[in-house]
Amino acid sequence: MCGIIGVTCNPSANAPTRASIIITKALKSLEYRGYDSVGIALIDPSSGKLIVKKSDGMLDKVSKEYGFEGTPGFVGIGHTRWATHGPPTQINAHPHTDCKEEIAIVHNGIVKNFLELKKDLASKGHSFKSETDTEIVAHLLEELSNRNNDFFNALKRAISMVEGSYAIAVITKKEPDKIFFARKESPLIVGLSKNLNLLASDIPAMLDYTSSFIPLSDGEVGWISPSDVHIENLNGEIIDTKKRIVTVDWKSDMVRKSGYPHFMIKEIHEQPQVLKNTYDGLMSDDILDRAADVLASGERIFVTAAGTSYHASLILKLFIERLTGRIVYPFIASEYRVVENLAHKGDVIIAVSQSGETIDTMKGLRAFKARGAIAMSITNVMGSTIGRESDFTIPMRAGPEIGVAATKTFLTQTLVASLLSIKLASKLGKIGMDEEKTMLSELADAGRVAGEAISMTEGVVKSMAERIHAVQNMYFLGRGLGVPLSYEAALKLKEISYIHAEAYPAGESKHGPIALVEQGFPVFFIVTSEMVSELEGNIAEMNARGAMTVAIAPFKLKERLGTKAIIAVPDAGNMLEPYSLTPPFQLLAYYTAVRRGHDPDRPRNLAKTVTVE
Ligand code: F6R
Repeated sequence: MCGIIGVTCNPSANAPTRASIIITKALKSLEYRGYDSVGIALIDPSSGKLIVKKSDGMLDKVSKEYGFEGTPGFVGIGHTRWATHGPPTQINAHPHTDCKEEIAIVHNGIVKNFLELKKDLASKGHSFKSETDTEIVAHLLEELSNRNNDFFNALKRAISMVEGSYAIAVITKKEPDKIFFARKESPLIVGLSKNLNLLASDIPAMLDYTSSFIPLSDGEVGWISPSDVHIENLNGEIIDTKKRIVTVDWKSDMVRKSGYPHFMIKEIHEQPQVLKNTYDGLMSDDILDRAADVLASGERIFVTAAGTSYHASLILKLFIERLTGRIVYPFIASEYRVVENLAHKGDVIIAVSQSGETIDTMKGLRAFKARGAIAMSITNVMGSTIGRESDFTIPMRAGPEIGVAATKTFLTQTLVASLLSIKLASKLGKIGMDEEKTMLSELADAGRVAGEAISMTEGVVKSMAERIHAVQNMYFLGRGLGVPLSYEAALKLKEISYIHAEAYPAGESKHGPIALVEQGFPVFFIVTSEMVSELEGNIAEMNARGAMTVAIAPFKLKERLGTKAIIAVPDAGNMLEPYSLTPPFQLLAYYTAVRRGHDPDRPRNLAKTVTVE
């Protein structure tokens, strides 16, 4: 999705090109969100005019061609565009300007009523250069600020006329030290630093300059100058910004590749450490006890998420149901409208989201909350919207995840799910204190198991990637815990290697999918230590049809399964099996993508955080 950066520097303490250097560097760190065009706008300190440089294409090329970094100015905005209205072209790239080229705007989101606004503005003499919805807002601001000299009031008026979702950053010649902003449903965060303030769509883009942030809420509008921040809410109330500051312990080197060729492989290798951080963090706090109290007293438990986070939600369901006997109702976040009317007071809704900004998950959570459900979330980003709007938030502590394909956050979500299920089982009296203690301490090994799985399988997986890189279709099959893991394995492979992979409960494969299987068709089995004999039957069925069967399976089952190849992982208890079985399929997706010549960090058409419905 689009990325926004804004920087306003104090001229007496900063060089005239500092803002453009900061903007260009921040755009680099926003690349992971996915984009097709890039641009910047600054106010030239000598002429007072707007300088806009933009084009379709990747940052390195465009920035070099247009000289982004040498652009003078103490105040500026930048943008990475992920096309929605109008194809990726030079004209459609952001920033967009008004007729007089006095206002420049960057925007993330969708202005739903832009055609209506455009018609009205055209009748008032405005002419448009691009096909975008964003440009309309520049002209609307021009129109309203012409009538009224107060630019901030014009922005507030404009926002009241715009329907849809937006994170907006605007600069104007009229107030050259400020960046104006507004937010509804798209993330936008203020960064506070010395002699400069920043604005960006995510925290990693600002980590080189600060660890203090103010995440903006829906309906908030305001401005930043080098030394001030002003925020108002929808009712015109001025926000006490000091009370809203959050400090993060993320460091800027966490968002660098540190010698790895891609973020994805770095993040796969970080799993042993982040699982330890998650475990230690949660065990040194009473947060899980409190969360389990909420779940124990709640009537029904719903869980919602998208993509990889949804697969972790299925693991949460499985563990809670197994350990407590209570039913958990998971639903795909974008389908919340189908189930929202089921929610009522006393229910608990758990939103699982790495970013805490996924629009579908946010809307699902809000819909349930509006009907009286208690809102709980499991998120990775401090101060994210989903976290702020929840009554109760459990942090995942995975550190920043830059690779578009979720890896370390899947396993940390899974760890939170496992620990929470154990705590809930204990609260409900389904397990005794000793059993609780044993199970919790078993999970202290999650990181170690993931580390061993990586070292044990990386070499074999690389050769496997060589074998499968040219295939077009494949299956992942499993039973029990192996089902959500298979869903996740198929998603990983699909999204970065572009091989069509589907996942099914192994038994279900006979009810249709097996029709595709012929000589050499790859079928991967994710084997846990449960329902092994049933899986052996499924493996035999696939072998009989000539499939290239491969098992990702515990070492102890190596001789037994009968697949044509095996990727053996460390033996581990059932609750630890996600940490032994997941790294090999993440590595498989990674090495297959690389072998096929794709950049795993920038899968086509995908964005790290999906902020439009
Ligand atoms: C897949 C992936 C996505 C996300 C999904 C939800 O690798 O990363 O499927 O899991 O977009 O994102 P969050 O967890 O940020 O809500």
